[in-house]
Amino acid sequence: MIIKQAEFVSSNTEVSKLPLADKPEYAFIGRSNVGKSSLINAITGRKYLAKTSQKPGKTQLINHFIINNTWYLVDLPGYGFAQVSKKSRAEWEKFIRAYLRHRENLQCVFVLIDSRHEPQKIDLDFCCWLGEEGIPFMLVFTKADKQSGVKSDQNVAKFRRALKKWFEEIPPNFLTSAETKLGCDKVLQAIDDVNQN
Ligand code: GTP
Ligand code: MG
Repeated sequence: MIIKQAEFVSSNTEVSKLPLADKPEYAFIGRSNVGKSSLINAITGRKYLAKTSQKPGKTQLINHFIINNTWYLVDLPGYGFAQVSKKSRAEWEKFIRAYLRHRENLQCVFVLIDSRHEPQKIDLDFCCWLGEEGIPFMLVFTKADKQSGVKSDQNVAKFRRALKKWFEEIPPNFLTSAETKLGCDKVLQAIDDVNQN
């Protein structure tokens, strides 16, 4: 897919104020700092479309971007950020889970996982929750440029193995880097494939 257009639409804290659910939608989610916003910029080829930061907790809202005037890409706040209060974590839970459950045009959630780490409970639990809710998702391993390909592949394999306890069929996975653009074409292709069906 060629990205001809990528524009910011809106930032929201309320599900009721989201853009009309009239186009297929794809959301990026994962731990704070895993690289969601950076990957959105990398796959769209727009350096500053989504705001990124070295400090976790940068994205706080549901951010909609419109791509090629035909589909929405959504940048979500990260989970698992230790420095937020219990109250705001509970709010995140309520707000994001409500969005994921009820957004009728949501085609697929991309769960971003740091490829440098062994499987983390918080990511596994989140995938299980998506499974229980029947929300389609794919796995995107990030920051592949930060270590050897062998190490990344090992961590991907470990994560898939860990998910086998809960899932009969493990969703597809992609190994990516926002730095080198590794895997960006594959993520776009996956979106294209869903859009065509
Ligand atoms: P929150 O919005 O806080 O949840 O974070 P996020 O998941 O959107 O992460 P963000 O894209 O802001 O990136 C966090 C940090 O990781 C930034 O300093 C990025 O430059 C860096 N980063 C993201 N992706 C990559 C990558 O593929 N390779 C490298 N080397 N650094 C990356
Ligand atoms: Mg972000």
